[in-house]
Amino acid sequence: MTTTDQSATTVRTSETSVPLVDLLDERWSPRSFDPTATVSDEQVTALLEAARWAPSALNLQPRRFIVGRRGTATFDTILANLMGFNTLWAGNAAALVVAIAETESEEGEARAGAQYDLGLAVSALTVQAHAEGLHVHQMAGIEVDGLRSAFDLPARLLPVTVSAVGVVAPADQLPEKLAERETLPRTRLELDELVLRRD
Ligand SMILES: Cc1cc2nc3c(=O)[nH]c(=O)nc-3n(C[C@H](O)[C@H](O)[C@H](O)COP(=O)(O)O)c2cc1C
Repeated sequence: MTTTDQSATTVRTSETSVPLVDLLDERWSPRSFDPTATVSDEQVTALLEAARWAPSALNLQPRRFIVGRRGTATFDTILANLMGFNTLWAGNAAALVVAIAETESEEGEARAGAQYDLGLAVSALTVQAHAEGLHVHQMAGIEVDGLRSAFDLPARLLPVTVSAVGVVAPADQLPEKLAERETLPRTRLELDELVLRRD
């Protein structure tokens, strides 16, 4: 179901052939965040614990995070390193989280699966956020070198995404073009296109 009234809080559940658990069914990526909402320390900890306990190959856990809550210098630095239209809406999020892949160990050993393992952690963080009454919007449109230099990251630590985390707000709080996109039905490939073989 998608709400089309742009002054109402948007609901954009998934269209599935069988029921899913609510957290997955109801998760979606808003751009309209309540600029007055905050995330508590406990909520941030819960998000990071969810990321920490996600699986990873050989349990190497090649992922690191930088979290800035709105109103902090860290938040402003992350926001300044978003690209293009991401800068138009992400500033209202309650927190911005940089997801960083450890592509090499400190000893110089390659971590080939780092981005995969990082994605699993962000996925867990996203579901936990939803359970906390929050929404997450991941962005790959980021200034990688800018984030590296702002946070003094060595070359082996690669910023991959920034996630906006916050409380969803009505679509009409966005600039017009973004508000329209906010209430379009969410789409996906059909299962038949996605699954190459199923016996
Ligand atoms: C790795 C990744 C990078 C993304 N980058 C951006 C981005 O830079 N800007 C943006 O507005 N949305 C971005 N998105 C959000 C996707 O467009 C969104 O997840 C997708 O359209 C599906 O919508 P849904 O999450 O509401 O189901 C990104 C999502 C992922 C997973």
